[in-house]
Parts: sequence; C-alpha cells; structure tokens
Amino acid sequence: MITMTQLEFVMIKPDGVKRGLVGEIIKRFENKGLKLRALKMIKMSKEQAIELYKEHEGKPFFDDLVNYVTSGPVVVMVVEGPRAVEVVRRMVGATDGAEAEPGSIRGDFALSKARNIVHATDSPEKVEREMSIFFKKEELVEDYEFAHAIY
Ligand code: PPS
Repeated sequence: MITMTQLEFVMIKPDGVKRGLVGEIIKRFENKGLKLRALKMIKMSKEQAIELYKEHEGKPFFDDLVNYVTSGPVVVMVVEGPRAVEVVRRMVGATDGAEAEPGSIRGDFALSKARNIVHATDSPEKVEREMSIFFKKEELVEDYEFAHAIY
C-alpha cells in the first residue's frame, strides 16, 4: 500500500534547548511514527530569523522574537509522515503555552506565547520555504527503511 506523506519543518527554540527538552521532543515525534529526515543544532543568524518570521515583520513582538531565537542554540529538523503538518501542529499545541492542551508539547512545558519551546510550520505550502532557510536539498536524508513506520 502506498501512503502519501508530507514533510514538516520543526525548530526547538532556545528555551527548549536550554531546558534540556531536545530528547523529549524528538522522542515524541519518533514515538508517533514520524520519520526524521534531517536534524541539526545551530545558532541561527539574524538574517535567517528575519526570513523565517518575515510574515510577522512590523508586529510589536517582531524584534523580541528575532532577538530571542538568535539568543542561543536551536535544533532544526525535518520530519515526514502522513499529514505530518497537521499531526505535528496538534502535537505542538496552541501558540500560547497557557492555553495549549495538556498532552501537547506546549501544553506540558510552556506557559506563554513568547517562550513556547517549539516552532512548527503552519501549512504544507510553507514547509519548503522554511526548511530551505536551514537545509540544503542534499542535507535531507534520502527516504530510508524505518522500522517503526506504521503507515
Ligand atoms: S499573530 O500575530 O497572532 O500571528 O502571532 P502569534 O501566532 O501569536 O505568534 C507568532 C510567533 O511569534 C512568537 N511570539 C513571540 N516571540 C517572542 N516574544 C514575543 N513577545 C512574542 N509574541 C509572539 C510566537 O511564539 C510565534 O512563534 P512560532 O515560532 O511561530 O510559534
């Protein structure tokens, strides 16, 4: 059976890295059955931050956001699975940690909008653009056998 899959871009923000939640977050995606296709820890540049969040340019929180995501290391990754964008977004939870459902990443680990642990691309059309800010095409590991694949 052939199941269509999607790629999804995820970034563990500086608060997630500082709090030692990298393993916990990746474990949740792996346990769910999502396949890791690319993964690295970086200190992102100001240019990359502005590009990632350009839709928010001009909003009152924009400078804070750019300063914050460039303030320390982040972990960027690409995961793959059926309907990966909506699946990951549900696992990540609402933007404001105080409102996010318990059981979601932000629901379990965050209490605000500004320090909400993780970023995940919000629509399939944007994934290519966001992941290309951090990964060259050849950095995505080719499709490979994945023992836990349940699709
Ligand atoms: S909006 O205007 O409703 O579209 O914005 P929102 O969806 O609430 O937030 C968009 C992203 O900006 C981050 N954010 C902030 N970061 C730092 N400081 C402050 N004050 C702040 N306010 C909002 C928020 O976490 C969202 O980031 P991502 O990475 O997309 O979740």
